[in-house]
Amino acid sequence: MTPIIAIDGFSSTGKSTIAKGLAKKLQLIYIDSGAMYRAITLFALQNGLIDNGKIQTEKLVAALPKIRIAFTFNAKTQKSETLLNGEQVEDQIRQPHVAAVVSEVSAIPEVRRFLVEQQRALGERGGLVMDGRDIGTVVFPKADVKIFTTASEEIRVERRWTELQQKGEKISKEAVRENLLHRDHIDATRKDSPLIKADDAVELDNTNLTLEAQLEWAVRLVLERMGQTVSLL
Ligand code: DC
Repeated sequence: MTPIIAIDGFSSTGKSTIAKGLAKKLQLIYIDSGAMYRAITLFALQNGLIDNGKIQTEKLVAALPKIRIAFTFNAKTQKSETLLNGEQVEDQIRQPHVAAVVSEVSAIPEVRRFLVEQQRALGERGGLVMDGRDIGTVVFPKADVKIFTTASEEIRVERRWTELQQKGEKISKEAVRENLLHRDHIDATRKDSPLIKADDAVELDNTNLTLEAQLEWAVRLVLERMGQTVSLL
């Protein structure tokens, strides 16, 4: 069985945690579509195409064919890593200076078209869990299962801040909150494929749920939708 599972939601609402957990449990491929937008943003920063938060859109769009994004599985860390033109950039794309402008880069229609095409190609044979903002609405509108994650603002700030602390980033909770709310606003109000819950997505508010409880809920949902034909590890 090769289901396509779409997980969408605002930043730091636990999308990737549930997506990775589901992929492992159901032996599916996991694709972090946000990492692809982050990789393009990093490329733009590295090539001087963003100056003081201002994007040179035309130049970036012209450079898109030169950008190769891929994912590789690191057997040592047991984690997926993002490659930008062959270079491993997993940590770099998570840094605050990338987060600060990624929503603006993601709002460029040509960037979206470029990535949506690649995301669809990755899902051609099914058997994957993809998380992002427009997976259930635009990338895979016919996905077998769609989940829309939500969580309280407090818990989102706490999770993101802790994640950054663990990576050694020095940043205040207020700066994290500001970036989250800024990205929420841009992601939900951009003209091209804004973040909205697909009509047929099931909402998962994980504010007070443990990872185990969320996973149990999600696995049950997938099994229900797929008529129990998904094999479990
Ligand atoms: O999931 P994330 O926080 O790593 O995503 C980074 C940014 O990428 C987010 O602010 C919006 C954008 N994004 C998007 O526009 N569409 C997606 N499918 C995934 C991410």
